[in-house]
Amino acid sequence: MQITVGDHRIEFGPKRLRLGVDDGVPASYEHLRLEPVTPYIGAEISGVDLAAPTPAQIDELRRALLDWKVLFFRDQQHLTAEQHRDFAAHWGELEVHPLLAQGEIPEVVRFDRGQENPGTENIWHVDVSWQQRPPLGSVLRATDVPAAGGDTLWSDMGNAYEALPEKIKERIDGLTATHDFTPTFGLGMAPDKLAEMQAKYPPQHHPVVRTHPDTGRKMLFVNGLFTTAIEGVDPEEGRELLRLLLDQVAMPDFQVRLRWAPGTVAFWDNRATQHYACSDYFPHRRVMERVAIEGDIPA
Ligand SMILES: [Fe+2]
Repeated sequence: MQITVGDHRIEFGPKRLRLGVDDGVPASYEHLRLEPVTPYIGAEISGVDLAAPTPAQIDELRRALLDWKVLFFRDQQHLTAEQHRDFAAHWGELEVHPLLAQGEIPEVVRFDRGQENPGTENIWHVDVSWQQRPPLGSVLRATDVPAAGGDTLWSDMGNAYEALPEKIKERIDGLTATHDFTPTFGLGMAPDKLAEMQAKYPPQHHPVVRTHPDTGRKMLFVNGLFTTAIEGVDPEEGRELLRLLLDQVAMPDFQVRLRWAPGTVAFWDNRATQHYACSDYFPHRRVMERVAIEGDIPA
């Protein structure tokens, strides 16, 4: 396939993607079981009770998260909101989301979707990329899920970047993009509130390609929900480049898809992935709780 971006004609060809682990052989784990779901992204973990993980299991989960970018845990129905919060806290300070309504525990954000409040997370995105320090990662727990539907997908931003044509990589090297909550969260706000929030959370300028602080891998870092423009290029070329990059994010080759059940937990690296929550279950109900871990400034 051949396309044109700005002055560049680009040819796409086959690429060899990078495995979840460097040598293609999953690292050995002594304190948990790990089953890859795809060769690159997503692993199912068993043998860990998230209510009471041992220090050795936390150490192995740190490595597993970096290698597999999103970890799935089944049968964690017994987990309380406090235990959910405490598990996430092993990775750092926790975020209190500045815009989403808070429940009894401020760090736990509840997403209750159904007939009155349909799901709206069905766009590929990085959580809260409109902040200076987007989260390191999120731990999402299913409490009520439809009998079928409401799956979540994650896409591997390291492989999405590496598989880009070299000319596109050269073009986006060093570019920054604008991230802003206004076109999404801002839509329903009264003008006064919007102005107040815009003053508090001005648009951020993040690199189009960030380097993962732990793995050193380059990661594509523009998303369809909060990235509003690529800076420093002709606006038309910027729109075209952004469209091309967002198409890359959405390619099934880089993805893993999770079918939830009550008690399923997913823990993703928000620096290395994007995610998409399918809103195919209307009018059924889907209730999830999320705890996010504070991250660094993308660089
Ligand atoms: Fe999200």
